[in-house]
Amino acid sequence: MTESKKFFIYTMGCQMNVYDTGQMENILFSMGYKKAATYALADIVLANTCAIREKAEQKAFSFLGRLAKLKNKNPELIVGIGGCVAQQEGMKILERMPQVDMVFGTDAIGRLPDLIRTVALENKRVVDIETAHKVFELGPVKIESSPRGISRFVTIMQGCDNFCTYCVVPHVRGREKSRDPFHILQEIKALTEAGVREVTLLGQNVNSYGKKEGLCSFVELLERINGTDNLLRLRFTTSHPKDLSSELINAYTYLDKLCRHIHLPVQSGSTDILKRMNRRYTRDQYLKKVEELRKISHDMAVSTDIIVGFPGETEADFSDTLDLIKEVEYDSLFVFNYSDRPKVPAAAMDGKISKSIQNERLQAVLALQESIAMKKNRAQVGMTLDVLVEGKSKKQNRKTETMGSNEDQWSGRTSSNRIVNFTADPQGVEGAGSFYGKIVRVGIEKALAHSLRGKMVEASSKPEGMKGEKDYAA
Ligand code: 5AD
Ligand code: SF4
Repeated sequence: MTESKKFFIYTMGCQMNVYDTGQMENILFSMGYKKAATYALADIVLANTCAIREKAEQKAFSFLGRLAKLKNKNPELIVGIGGCVAQQEGMKILERMPQVDMVFGTDAIGRLPDLIRTVALENKRVVDIETAHKVFELGPVKIESSPRGISRFVTIMQGCDNFCTYCVVPHVRGREKSRDPFHILQEIKALTEAGVREVTLLGQNVNSYGKKEGLCSFVELLERINGTDNLLRLRFTTSHPKDLSSELINAYTYLDKLCRHIHLPVQSGSTDILKRMNRRYTRDQYLKKVEELRKISHDMAVSTDIIVGFPGETEADFSDTLDLIKEVEYDSLFVFNYSDRPKVPAAAMDGKISKSIQNERLQAVLALQESIAMKKNRAQVGMTLDVLVEGKSKKQNRKTETMGSNEDQWSGRTSSNRIVNFTADPQGVEGAGSFYGKIVRVGIEKALAHSLRGKMVEASSKPEGMKGEKDYAA
């Protein structure tokens, strides 16, 4: 293969796919490919797809539609479809879409080199949706120095055993499989050596990490990762509320790198609907877990996922959801219209809710959350918060900013996952220089709905420790 071959990967869907795309990139780099700036300039185009809702699936097919034109012009182009739609549809994609050369499932990423060679050298079309029933290990990962910022995802487990009645994940990603802690630690060490300062551990249900395989517990894994040199922050997602243990809640009291934020998807505030969703917790049990978390720290940020318009959701069920949102006061949330997926039990349930009612409910959740987020962000004004700097703010990049010509504009996140855009006078602050990848202290001056604005008051923070952000209140 010549040096000049280029690839382009279009990533849809969740953080798991973002991580999988990173693995695909590593494989393609090791095969001598380089990254193309757009798909029109690539010799191989891969679509990493998502099947969680119908809209996501449509997005995948419309991208493949665009590639058909490109393939007509350039028959040498290799087109591959990976991710959950590939896993779900398999051979049907090759039958329906002549522009596709390669269909590879979520467990087949490690076999990409062979698949690509078969297509390129033997001129064959291939499907590989075999599930290995173990997490593939790529061996030492070649990590380029900070190509994608200071914050990265690291998969610790794949698949799901929970079978929520609306969800396609267990059907496409298969049963839960945990990665060896040694490989996880090795990967995180390599990331920190390449300049990464924050990792988010990924799994559909991190609480059951290692249980089946008899590996260490999730809390033990966090403890071991917390000891990594040069790692500043540690996050994880997703925690199923039914399995959130007191042991894990307690870990927030002594792990200094563990961020004070938890994503705890509730899906609905109605116990009846939760039962029909097979979530295996009641509204009260969920609220008790949130209470326990906030006992650890009153400023513990909690975010969630909500589904509106689940089959049979009455006005009373929906108002239970709104009440729960008011009671918890989430720091942020994602809300989705329920969408039928192939073969899941909810698709066969009675009481389907019309699109227009779903949309009304979705808007009501968004409006309520907007006011809660605004109120919570306003409460941060006047505080001094620790911010991990991710780069120059977008405004600085656009060079249209008028906030002060001598001052640099930076952007980062608090431990509670709030975005903070801030100014730093390069002359006025001791130790100033590049703040990229460092934790600095920022005085918060203004609250917006989805971010905060402020001014740096110190170029480096004391160790974050387990002091709440509010201990630094100005
Ligand atoms: N319809 C709508 N939303 C869904 N989710 C999962 N399956 C569906 C579905 N069939 C949402 C859940 C989950 C998030 C990742 O996607 O809220 O937590
Ligand atoms: Fe889907 Fe439920 Fe598993 Fe989450 S816990 S991936 S919603 S089945």
